[in-house]
Amino acid sequence: MDGRDLVRSMKTVGSAGAAQGLRTVRAAWRRRRADATGLPARGAERARVPGPVQDVEPGPGGGTIRFSRSELRILVAVNGAVFWGWDGACPEPSYALAGRCPEPDPRAVLEPDKDGGWRVVAERVTIVVSRHGAVEVRTPGGVTLRRDLPPRWWEPRDGGPARWMQRSEVAADARFFGLGGRASGPRLRGGTYRLWNTDPGGAFGRADDPLSLTMPVQLVVSDAATHLVFHDTSWDGTVTLREGEEGAGSGHDRPGSCELRMDGGPLRCWVVVGTPARVLLAWASLTGAPALPPAWALGHHHARWGFGSEQEVRRIVAGYHEHGLPLDAVHLDIDHYDDHQVFTVDQDRFPKLPVLAEELRRDGIRLVSIVDPAVKAEPGNAVYDSGLAEDAFVRDASGRLVEGVVWPGEAVFPDFTHARVRRWWGELYGERLGQGFAGFWHDMNEPTSFTAFGEPTLPRSARHALDGRDGDHREAHNVYALCMARAAYEGLRELLPEERPFLFSRSGWAGLQRYGGTWSGDVATGWPGLRASLSLVMGLGLCGVPYSGPDVGGFDGSPSPELYLRWFQLGAYLPLFRTHASMRAGRREPWEFGPEVLEHARVALVERRRLLPYFVTLAHLARRTGAPYVRPVWWGAPEDRALRDCEDAFLLGDCLLVAPVLDPGAERRAVHLPRGLWYDTATGRRHRGPGQVLVDAPLSRIPVFARAGAVIPVRGDDGGLELEVWTPARGRTGGGLVVRDTGDGWDEPEVERYVARWEGRQVVVEREGEDGLYEPSHPVRVRGLV
Ligand code: GLC
Repeated sequence: MDGRDLVRSMKTVGSAGAAQGLRTVRAAWRRRRADATGLPARGAERARVPGPVQDVEPGPGGGTIRFSRSELRILVAVNGAVFWGWDGACPEPSYALAGRCPEPDPRAVLEPDKDGGWRVVAERVTIVVSRHGAVEVRTPGGVTLRRDLPPRWWEPRDGGPARWMQRSEVAADARFFGLGGRASGPRLRGGTYRLWNTDPGGAFGRADDPLSLTMPVQLVVSDAATHLVFHDTSWDGTVTLREGEEGAGSGHDRPGSCELRMDGGPLRCWVVVGTPARVLLAWASLTGAPALPPAWALGHHHARWGFGSEQEVRRIVAGYHEHGLPLDAVHLDIDHYDDHQVFTVDQDRFPKLPVLAEELRRDGIRLVSIVDPAVKAEPGNAVYDSGLAEDAFVRDASGRLVEGVVWPGEAVFPDFTHARVRRWWGELYGERLGQGFAGFWHDMNEPTSFTAFGEPTLPRSARHALDGRDGDHREAHNVYALCMARAAYEGLRELLPEERPFLFSRSGWAGLQRYGGTWSGDVATGWPGLRASLSLVMGLGLCGVPYSGPDVGGFDGSPSPELYLRWFQLGAYLPLFRTHASMRAGRREPWEFGPEVLEHARVALVERRRLLPYFVTLAHLARRTGAPYVRPVWWGAPEDRALRDCEDAFLLGDCLLVAPVLDPGAERRAVHLPRGLWYDTATGRRHRGPGQVLVDAPLSRIPVFARAGAVIPVRGDDGGLELEVWTPARGRTGGGLVVRDTGDGWDEPEVERYVARWEGRQVVVEREGEDGLYEPSHPVRVRGLV
């Protein structure tokens, strides 16, 4: 047991009482025994590299290149994404892909390159393979974006999965982003990042890694182009990044590097090259369009572990009303369960949940339920009994049920990698709908099992169906939550076909966006936690999961009024805007921090509500284009190096730039603006980018800028939709898209396109139609006119 394990186990044991502590000791020994007998010992290994090229076989979209000890299959797909796989690896089966592998692009052909190498030339990228199996990704102009050295495998002599390593070089100026949710980003500095979804076991800070949602997706941004690389393997591994250095050593550039080491699984990857927008579009076409949250989920949510009773929920809701604070959803945590058992309700403390839900809904407030995967292992528990009858739970190598420890004590874990189990689990949400819940919050699904020592998850030897392929937890672990989300999503579609499911999940993997979003998990209360919150949202958005947000105020402890307010102000501009905290934490209601904070929090809430039509538009655009709502400031100008290094501000869609206050005591802050004219939305003052400006950031607000020419849909005073138009620069035009809310169902709304232009001394806004320009269908308010 290392120091971290010890701390984690102390936290777990300390927090859950002596009986639970004892269970975690027993569970840790059980896990150790299971792995001692259920996993083959790692014996002697033989190292292998591809060796020299032998021959090639052209095929659709590329072909296969044979080396003396491996073969490489390359396929350029019609969406511009490039796949390659070693040792016969194909794109399928894959938990990340949304459907079948896209069609090959017939224009991409395999042809000889110099020095006995080969290349595939496609419209937006050229792949060059050396005679020893180095693979280069080049722009059409011939600039190398990435150079993968020949991979290396270590194969156990007596069979079993091979470990492998892939080392790559990128440009000296390149910056790394992604790898799922990382607290230390958004820019990923040199260091080793693990690919193993992990409950950090208590509130986490900037240095904690990995967290609950890792994925082998890197977005690499350099002067020449942006590229995304996805290694499609769910096994445990590490990514070691090293940023390059220009003019290093004797004036030469030192390239950046990335070393991926995996414990097993296929060596295969996808690469997409282009602008950030193009890259995310192709990524969404591969792994699936982000699910569209219902409009209410884009409002404000209040959660708490430990409401403890219906009265307390009513008290909180009444507080929101009394203080004139908009509220859209209340989340019930595990304390509303009967004895912490999933799909149950504590009838003493929540005797009339459906009535409460109905009352709240009449006020426009939805109830959201936490759903943990672990099922209390106790005969008489209906979910346990029906799961046993279905043979739904994970077993060990000798066929015994794997028992871990979670909130309800000894617990078993559904095997979501089995279609039959997903169907069974999906139906259980019927009980939740019957209680009046409208949304679902998946937790503890790394999966977490408390432990006195070792890893807080299932034994690696635990068996999983892996959708017909049969395997163990080493391969299933990272996709466990993804498959759980699929089970819920598909179940809800059956149960309530007329409504879009709303779910978000602590853990997940590439493709999670198809089913829902995520949130920070237990981010530590403190200024570093505030920064981590933004890092997580931005990084996840660049990996294709656009809907997320932090526990506003942090999960543990008691934020100072200032910290709480700054978190609240940031949260108001993030897709999931939710206050949440631990049972043992201090209060989080806006009125608990004094009149000044209350006043400013109200302003943030009211502004969020006013921007709701813009958030709805961004949600639709995310679904159609893969572009996240929250984008790094370099989104439209990745070649601007100063922007590339800016981590403390973000673009909200195309129109707004938000500069949260992330430090205590700040009353002003520097903001790096991209090219163009920007308005400070509070003062109307104009600033010209690119460049840095110093602006006021009083406690009452965080700086928000509007791009000149932006057309932003907002909610007018009468509740109707209005267009807020920011005056274009003289001689320039502007515009914007509007997608209107059509309710919680599946109706496909139109995308309305607006243009803004100068006409004499006036700014005119028109809607683009098929055969011309029209009067806009909404009232227009022009701002920034001087
Ligand atoms: C986990 C979740 C947290 C939740 C708690 C109790 O720590 O991350 O949000 O409140 O479990 O369910």
